[in-house]
Amino acid sequence: MLIPINGFLSRHEVRQFRDHLDVAEWQDGQATAGALARSVKNNQQLADGVEPALSLAHHILRHLDRHPVFISAALPGRIHPPRFNRYRDGGQYGTHVDSALMRPPGVDAIMRSDLSATLFLSEADEYEGGELEIEGAFGVQSVKMAAGDMVLYSSSSLHRVLPVTQGARVAAFFWVQSVVAKESERLLLFDLDQAIQGLRAQVVADDAHLLKLATVYHNLLRHCAAP
Ligand code: NI
Repeated sequence: MLIPINGFLSRHEVRQFRDHLDVAEWQDGQATAGALARSVKNNQQLADGVEPALSLAHHILRHLDRHPVFISAALPGRIHPPRFNRYRDGGQYGTHVDSALMRPPGVDAIMRSDLSATLFLSEADEYEGGELEIEGAFGVQSVKMAAGDMVLYSSSSLHRVLPVTQGARVAAFFWVQSVVAKESERLLLFDLDQAIQGLRAQVVADDAHLLKLATVYHNLLRHCAAP
């Protein structure tokens, strides 16, 4: 599963993010890698919970909260606060799987990672390499998007970031615990919702068939969701 969300941040917002990130103090990304990932992780990360990461993460969370495609695709229950990383000078993140369970900072509860997200904050032509490669049922998919674009993918998939051989790749990343744990069910609900949204633009709001479909959607969600 791989869902691109183009233009999640505007150019203006990306510029504002980069104004902060380009002068920020970056740390070795090893500090936050799990035991398995540590040996393959070679990048830089911003410290959690302090500026500028705090404000930028909040900005992303506010956007996520009102983004219809993100909500439809992820059906978020919990969102791990976004973190920021930078790859340069050959930096890479070898093949790994994200931890299934994580404890978001400052929260006394454990969350399950269902979806992983990368929000690109560098333009694709600012760096060489740095593709996010995701292994799935249809082979390996290579992702390199424009600044402001985001990709959602299954946290259960093996993935990697190829070495950045020139320039710097700056991104935000986070995880989502969905109220629908099963990916197959989440995808069905997403397809159905997108079809309903498409119809909504073509028929009157109280069209009987549209209302019936909307009822099926919500009853299916009621059936699948475990908040
Ligand atoms: Ni990962």
